Amino acid sequence: MNIVIIGSRGQLGTALQTQYPDARAADSDQLDITDTAAVEAFDWSGVDVILNAAAYTNVDGAETAEGRTAAWQVNAVGPANLARVASRHGITLLHISSDYVFDGTAAQHSETEKFAPLGIYGQTKAAGDIVVSVAEKHYILRTSWVIGEGKNFVRTMLSLAEKGISPTVVADQVGRLTFTSELVRAIDHLLGSQAAYGTYNVSNDGEPSSWAAITREIFALAGRDDLTVTDTTTEEYFATKEGISPRPLQSTLSLDKLHATGFTSVDWRTDLAEYVKKETA
Ligand SMILES: NC(=O)c1ccc[n+]([C@@H]2O[C@H](COP(=O)([O-])OP(=O)(O)OC[C@H]3O[C@@H](n4cnc5c(N)ncnc54)[C@H](OP(=O)(O)O)[C@@H]3O)[C@@H](O)[C@H]2O)c1
Repeated sequence: MNIVIIGSRGQLGTALQTQYPDARAADSDQLDITDTAAVEAFDWSGVDVILNAAAYTNVDGAETAEGRTAAWQVNAVGPANLARVASRHGITLLHISSDYVFDGTAAQHSETEKFAPLGIYGQTKAAGDIVVSVAEKHYILRTSWVIGEGKNFVRTMLSLAEKGISPTVVADQVGRLTFTSELVRAIDHLLGSQAAYGTYNVSNDGEPSSWAAITREIFALAGRDDLTVTDTTTEEYFATKEGISPRPLQSTLSLDKLHATGFTSVDWRTDLAEYVKKETA
């Protein structure tokens, strides 16, 4: 398989490069997906699969005037540019989406749930899904709460623990972590098994938990039972802050469709234990 990884410097892009060392990897300096002419001019000859790990992921930043434009460019115009070249060259386009395309009122999100994004990031991601779905050979992988090499929730909580801080954390947003290792395994499985094109949810499996409960788990794994985690609500937490995007309260993705392809998920607690062990070694 001749693979091109787009957005190769991000959390997922980095993990994809490890999985596919022979793939051509392009970061935003090498290919800016919002630059239509550059995407058209890229050498797509012989390419079988485009893995699009590029995105504007600053959820609150997308609510600013500058961020709004950037988010629409990277999350909607960029995927449209990729969908165009993928269709023209008969390339499979694998794109990553988010549970933020939903309003979080359903207990679990299935692949067929209708779009109802709350914030601008979610709106731009929904637009990306729509344009990618027009490409004949496409996979859209919806994921949640991604943890890999980069800035993420687990690292933030570990750095608080290191400073001896007992944080207050929201307890009414519920979901499952998705380690980039799990996302990469699912990508490799779908491509390798030539699963039917379309949309698939991918997160780790296991009991859906709140950010507060996950923080307690992180502190226990890091041996910091001396620290306490105080529950708060999303409403309370953001009451004093400005420019915060609304977030879905329920992020849990149904994994039934993925499992029906023969994929076996790993519990998020198993991958979290491994991750914390590495980070604190
Ligand atoms: N992080 C989460 O919790 C989360 C949750 C649900 C879904 N997702 C989705 O999962 C995917 C991967 O997320 P991630 O956490 O790996 O993201 P990330 O770490 O923020 O990485 C995104 C990458 O996209 C690149 N990029 C930005 N603008 C670009 C452009 N115009 N052209 C080319 N590349 C560009 C960035 O490059 P530079 O480094 O050069 O700026 C960055 O390396 C995204 O589609 C995201 O929406 C993430």
